[in-house]
Amino acid sequence: MKISLVGDQISEIQTDCVVMGLFENDQDNNECFKHLDLKFDKTFSELICDGEITGKSDSLTLVHTLNKIIPKRVLVCGLGRKDVITKNKLRDFLSAAFRKARASSSSSCCVVVSSFTTNSINSNEIISIASESFNSGLYKYEVYKSSKNESNIDELTLVLESNDFSKNLETLQKEVSYGEIIGQSVNLARDLSNGPPNYMTPTHLSEVAIDTLAGTVVNVEVMDSGKMEAMGMGALLGVARGSAEPPKLIVMDYIGDKDNLGNSIALLGKGITFDSGGLDLKSPAGMRTMKGDMAGGAAVIGAMKSVAFLKPKINVLGIVPATENMPGASAQRPSDVVTAMDGTTIEIDNTDAEGRLVLADAVCYARSKGVNRIVDVATLTGAVRSALGDQCIGAFGNDPLFTEMVIDAGDRVGERIWELPTFEEYKSQFNSDIADLKNSGGSGAGAITGAMFIGSFVDEASWVHLDIAATSMTSRTKGDLVKGATGSGVRTLIELCEILADEN
Ligand code: BES
Ligand code: MN
Ligand code: ZN
Repeated sequence: MKISLVGDQISEIQTDCVVMGLFENDQDNNECFKHLDLKFDKTFSELICDGEITGKSDSLTLVHTLNKIIPKRVLVCGLGRKDVITKNKLRDFLSAAFRKARASSSSSCCVVVSSFTTNSINSNEIISIASESFNSGLYKYEVYKSSKNESNIDELTLVLESNDFSKNLETLQKEVSYGEIIGQSVNLARDLSNGPPNYMTPTHLSEVAIDTLAGTVVNVEVMDSGKMEAMGMGALLGVARGSAEPPKLIVMDYIGDKDNLGNSIALLGKGITFDSGGLDLKSPAGMRTMKGDMAGGAAVIGAMKSVAFLKPKINVLGIVPATENMPGASAQRPSDVVTAMDGTTIEIDNTDAEGRLVLADAVCYARSKGVNRIVDVATLTGAVRSALGDQCIGAFGNDPLFTEMVIDAGDRVGERIWELPTFEEYKSQFNSDIADLKNSGGSGAGAITGAMFIGSFVDEASWVHLDIAATSMTSRTKGDLVKGATGSGVRTLIELCEILADEN
């Protein structure tokens, strides 16, 4: 997918489809609109009068140019009111526009940057949002389709006003690269989560992490069960027991501030490549989406891809405990007791509460490396959907300022995050009669007790847990989201690393 910048007149550009933004009742301020209206003897104004073209939010109207100008089509992208538009909405609108252009058999398109700008969103920002949407909005997963017939748009031209264009091409090019790397990182996470579980095994997941980050500034180490055993990761290994696939601990280490090792963050991602529930087997319906139970791990690997490219001034440690949760002959039983890396004994109350077990050992590992901030991302509980629905990620933390920072990072990049409480009183729900803890908190406050179980391993680090169980998959294509895995969490993690880096 090639993206280029030009400073030409749109009617002269070799492209299948011109994408023009149009704010409500704003055509008189829209240079591109005026230019087209002139070229087409006021037909565009007539289309507005007839109500065919509108600046209404989320509307898309395709106009064929019938050889009057070089571009074959103009796609008018309604943006709503200029004073309420946000970058996040623009990402959704542009994604939908690119898909509409693709559906109209365009194989190249161009975005008229000035038609999307406002007093608060400048052309640089439009360039990066368009470059990002061009990648994330046109995403499709067809690795296992024998015929990959559907056309795709492989060329995007960003058209700038000539004085904008000549200003600083290098800066503009950076905006393109920034958008592209974010979109590609989201798509990488989507690919990993959409991957079928017989292919996307812990081993394969670790190989993708190695391949993705090979030759970059991020160092990848993959530990096998022998190493985990030696480190005492009994909670992670207990989950892996029922599976024929060997577990992997994927560790991705980036040193971005070597003179200040205290400036660090660990990103932990739940990497259950398939969650059958274990001996506490899930129902068929409950199991159907469980190839995506490594979406947290995918988000961390996706974020590390961007970290490798953006090189923020902060040390980032990505950790993905990867295993299946299967009911094989040597599977752990309800009532087993396992010992986590820090010595905590855990009674297995429910083998289906496996995410918190693998994350407990990941937290211990992060602590042993001395990081002072931890964010874990996990498809942890069905309960988070009952609590919050699928329009936001659930957040839980032990340091209000840090939690606020994570929520704010999400806000900036269009990922809604909502905090739920971690009241001490809920802790008694995972008291065990025979061990230090049990792994499930019984009925009530399921998302909270799941989070608090992980939090009980954290100690003094600032910690936020993001439960993406409801947001990691979507059943319909809309805006930036394409049916299937969403890449939930990727943008937030990247933005967070950048915010923290800027503080230094
Ligand atoms: N992976 C599931 C959570 C999940 C459910 C993710 C639905 C996405 C969609 C997790 O491992 C799990 O099974 N959680 C149990 C916890 C319970 C046994 C305490 C749950 O939510 O029912
Ligand atoms: Mn489970
Ligand atoms: Zn799970």
